[in-house]
Amino acid sequence: MHTLNRKEIAAYIAGKNDQELFALAADEKERIFGKEIYLRAVVEFSNHCNKRCRYCGLRSANSEISRYRLSRETILDAVQAVEENNIGTVVLQSGDDFWYTTEYLGELIKEIRSRYDIAITLSVGDRGIDEYAFWRKCGADRCLLKIETSSQELYSQYRTPEVFSDRLRRIEALKALGYEVGSGTIIGLPGMDLETSVNDVLFLTELELDMIAVGPFIPNPQTPLANEAVGSIELSHRVTALLRLLNPGANIPATSALSALDPESQQQALLRGCNVLMPSITPQEHRSNYKIYPGKNSTLATAAELIEAARNTVRSVGLIPSSSKGFSKRRK
Ligand code: 5AD
Ligand code: SF4
Repeated sequence: MHTLNRKEIAAYIAGKNDQELFALAADEKERIFGKEIYLRAVVEFSNHCNKRCRYCGLRSANSEISRYRLSRETILDAVQAVEENNIGTVVLQSGDDFWYTTEYLGELIKEIRSRYDIAITLSVGDRGIDEYAFWRKCGADRCLLKIETSSQELYSQYRTPEVFSDRLRRIEALKALGYEVGSGTIIGLPGMDLETSVNDVLFLTELELDMIAVGPFIPNPQTPLANEAVGSIELSHRVTALLRLLNPGANIPATSALSALDPESQQQALLRGCNVLMPSITPQEHRSNYKIYPGKNSTLATAAELIEAARNTVRSVGLIPSSSKGFSKRRK
């Protein structure tokens, strides 16, 4: 476990010693997780969203994407492919979509739990704590809820009319329900600078998360941020490397935003402290419509092909794809 003060973190964030930082992060990852990389299969079951985050293509105001919702049967077929291909975790992901009621998702979780021996992660946004409590009872293991930025001002600017403190309260409540909780931030939204990243590192560490996902901003032409600059891959790597040093047992994915910008940068992240890959296995006919940002999601056809591609990504950098459920090692 490393202790780094604000000044030391700021120096690394400024790129003062990348080689040292990345080597330390790689060592720390290997000390805790060995050569293994955990795989999660993501099923993006709905791209409807009632929010209007300025950076995101799923925002409700975007009338240029075609919206879809997967039925219970289609979702269960996708989850079956997860198990058949020996992946230990399924992530059920959507926009904030209340078409799926508490009961609908609860029944789905119970059904997955009864059929398959895999961990279930929910990434479904700002639902009620009572709903999350029910889904926990139904068998969900983990939740993802990104804070997106540690700056309250930027949070309200980009997620109007959402409030930072609400999000934070929800994250804390999910922990209290016994979920493994993941969060994270976006790197390089307009208005962010190096100090923002230092703050993000410190803030995310204080949250004591089981999973921390950080990736660069990618301007989406169908959003108000269409003409803004892309976030820095190097800075994203520095942030995840620092998070590894300060949160040794946390699961830290090499995010798909990296691969959308440059597939090699995602592989590189696995050698700089990250320990998770999260391939989307959303059915092919819908996958390209889950367009949070351009370049997301492969054009391969089947879940088996997508999962094999993810395993090959891991192998190509000399690491070992794991079939385990990949629980957090924070508490061990
Ligand atoms: N670029 C990068 N990441 C984005 N996200 C949303 N929009 C973008 C974008 N344009 C991330 C956010 C959100 C998740 C769905 O994807 O972190 O939580
Ligand atoms: Fe909806 Fe999430 Fe996109 Fe915001 S970031 S518009 S909540 S899908």
